[in-house]
Amino acid sequence: MAKASIKTVFLCSECGNDFSKWHGKCPACNEWGTLKEYTPPAGGQRGKGRANTPPLLSLEDILTNGDSERATTGISELDRVLGGGFLRGSVVLLGGNPGIGKSTLALQAAAAVGGTTLYVSAEESQEQIALRAKRLGASGEKVSITSENRWEGIEEQISLLKPEYFVIDSIQTIFTERGDALPGAISQVRECGQKILDVCKSRGTTAIIIGHVTKEGVIAGPRMLEHMVDTVLYLEGDTRHDYRLLRAEKNRFGSTNEVGVFEMTGEGMREVKNPSEMFLAERQSDAAGSAVFPSMEGTRPILVEIQALASNASFGTPQRNVTGFDLRRLSMLLAVLEKRLGVIVGTSDVFVNVVGGMRIDEPAADLAVISAVASSKKDQAVPGDTVLMGEIGLAGELRSIAGMDGRLKEAKRLGFKQAVVPHKGAKKVQGLHLTTCRTVSEAFKAIF
Ligand code: TYD
Ligand code: MG
Repeated sequence: MAKASIKTVFLCSECGNDFSKWHGKCPACNEWGTLKEYTPPAGGQRGKGRANTPPLLSLEDILTNGDSERATTGISELDRVLGGGFLRGSVVLLGGNPGIGKSTLALQAAAAVGGTTLYVSAEESQEQIALRAKRLGASGEKVSITSENRWEGIEEQISLLKPEYFVIDSIQTIFTERGDALPGAISQVRECGQKILDVCKSRGTTAIIIGHVTKEGVIAGPRMLEHMVDTVLYLEGDTRHDYRLLRAEKNRFGSTNEVGVFEMTGEGMREVKNPSEMFLAERQSDAAGSAVFPSMEGTRPILVEIQALASNASFGTPQRNVTGFDLRRLSMLLAVLEKRLGVIVGTSDVFVNVVGGMRIDEPAADLAVISAVASSKKDQAVPGDTVLMGEIGLAGELRSIAGMDGRLKEAKRLGFKQAVVPHKGAKKVQGLHLTTCRTVSEAFKAIF
C-alpha cells in the first residue's frame, strides 16, 4: 500500500534511532523533542554498495594479514591515548569546545604521522591552515589542504589523491548533496558519518573527524556519531589555562583509561611528559590551606595541588565555592569536618580550588580537600613534603582507594617524603614514609 513507498522516518538526535511515527518523547532514549523528520536519499545505504557480500575470513587469516598495523605519530601523548597509534582504516572522532585546539592537534598529528593526508577544512581558508602549519613547524609535503565542503567533492579528491589519512574539520560544516538539510543538521551528520565510515572501511584509510561540543558537553549534532566511529577522543581544558587533556571516551582498539597531557604554546600543542611537575610548579609548600593530592587520570598518576580558603562570612549565608571539585561532595566533607572533627566551618565562607584548571572527580581526593579546608581554618600548614589521599565516609572513616601504589610512586618520584593514606590497601614504597589511618581524625593527628 501507500505505506511501502513512504520513506520518511523520524530520527532521534540523541540516540540516532529511527521510528516510523513521530513521538514527543523518543521511545528509545526517553529524551523529549528530539525526533526530527528525515528522508533518506534515493538509493541510500541499504540499496547501494551491497552488491557483493563481503568475503568470509577466519580470525587467523585476518591477524596474519597484518592489516591491523598501527602508525605512530611520534607524539607520544597522542599515541598513548589512541592505544599505540592510528589503526589502519579506523575512524577517530576528536571532540572538544571551540578554540580548545582540535584543529591544531589534528594538523600536528597529520604532519607527524608522515603519510599522505587530505585535510578537509571547511572552517578555515587554505592560507590560514598553511600559515598555521608553518607556525607549528609541521612539514607540509604530504599534507594536502582542501576547503571543499560537499561530501561528493571530498570523495572525488580522496579517490584522486588516495590518501592514507584524511581529516574532516569539522563534521558540522560538510554536507552531502543527496540530503536536503543544511550542514550540521542531524541527517547530514548521519549521512556524512556513514559515508566516511564506508570510505575508511573499503579503502583502509584512516579518518579523523573533528566535532564541536556544545555547552552541555555533547558533540553538537547527533550523539550517534559516537556510536558509529571506532574511537572518540575529547580534548578538554580551560581556555584560560594552557594545559589540555586528551581523553579517550571510547576506543574499540585500546583502553579508554589513557590520558594525554598537552600544553598550548605559540608553536602549537606541546606534549607534557611530566604533568605533576607542571601542576605543582607554583606551589608555596608552607602556605596554610594547601594540600597535594596524587590524582589518577586513567592509569596515570598526576599530582595536583588543592587549595582552600575558609574565612569568616561577613554577611548573610556563608558561601561555598569550588573550582574543579564537586560542590555537593564538599558540603558532605564540611559536615564531616564539623561533626567528627570539631572544626567549625558553618559560619565561614569556604572556597576550594584545584590548581591549574584541573578537574577532580574521584572521592580519593576527599582527605586532601578536607585537610586543605581545615588547614586554612586552623591557619596551620600541611607539611610541604606530604601527600594526602583517601575517601572519607560519613562516619569519618578513611576508606581504601584504587591505584595507591602508582600514586605513591609518583609522589616519591617528585621528592615527597611522606604520605597519609587509608589503612586498607597500603603498600610500602621505598623512601616514602607512610602513615596509615583508619579515620580522618587519626589522619589529622598525623598532619597537624
Ligand atoms: P584551534 O586549533 O583553532 O581550536 P579548535 O579547532 O578546537 O577550535 O586553536 C584555537 C586556539 O589556539 C586559538 O585561539 C589560538 C590558539 N593557538 C595557540 O595558542 N598556538 C598555536 O600554535 C595555535 C595554532 C593556536
Ligand atoms: Mg578548528
